[in-house]
Amino acid sequence: MAVGIFDSGLGGLTVLKAAQSRLPDVDFLYYADSARAPYGVRDAEDIYQLTKSAVQDMWSKGCDLVILACNTASAAALRRMQEEGLPAGKRVLGVFVPLIEAMTERQWGDNSPPREVAVKHVALFATPATVSSRAFQRELAFRAIGVDVEAQACGGIVDAIEDGDMILAEALVRSHVEALKRKMPEPQAAILGCTHYPLLESCFQDALGAGVKVFSQGDLVAESLADYLQRHPHMQGSGAGGYYTTGNPGRVSDRATQFLRRKISFQAA
Ligand code: DGL
Repeated sequence: MAVGIFDSGLGGLTVLKAAQSRLPDVDFLYYADSARAPYGVRDAEDIYQLTKSAVQDMWSKGCDLVILACNTASAAALRRMQEEGLPAGKRVLGVFVPLIEAMTERQWGDNSPPREVAVKHVALFATPATVSSRAFQRELAFRAIGVDVEAQACGGIVDAIEDGDMILAEALVRSHVEALKRKMPEPQAAILGCTHYPLLESCFQDALGAGVKVFSQGDLVAESLADYLQRHPHMQGSGAGGYYTTGNPGRVSDRATQFLRRKISFQAA
């Protein structure tokens, strides 16, 4: 029995880590489409096709529930996959909603009309594809009014993390935060809208300054998954857990081991 966690690469490990610590008795099947990462520089059709085929592979490995722990895939593919209809007994969930509910101080699943919230100026850091989808702004508009969102498309960060070049990744974070601040000098909150970015959360926080509240998805998604599994306990699938990649298992295992600080062994998807 395993719940599927999907990302283009290593970023979803930030969600997996939080989910494993929140739900220690649940098995997880992690799937990284490393051979095709990064997704964030691809067009929406391409991201949709790649996400759909990876999720189908996860279903065939025994997952019933797959979390798209990838904002880029959630933005380009989630709604379309749901609208086109999923096979019986299968579900796909994304990562935007728990984060936006936290930022707008809503309880899980509170669908009341949009209202004024405390935070008025929000910086969004995400991949180019997520920014151009405007999916965050759309989900936010369902829940809050009067919030000014300034988005920064953070080219290069995902590639640097996948290559294990954290010095370059940190330099890119500082330059993207500077670019954002030229457009919005005093954000009150910042959203790390890519699951790779929590690996650099302290760098974002330093560059933004201590007064900016930084929201990232790991714990929020883990909490909403716990809530979902309590209401749908039969959605834990039939297959075994494990770590799969479409890339080079040895290389991906080394990076994952470095990020999670425990031995992780990927196998070929
Ligand atoms: N972790 C993915 C996300 O949350 C990265 C996407 C990419 O591969 O560019 O958007």
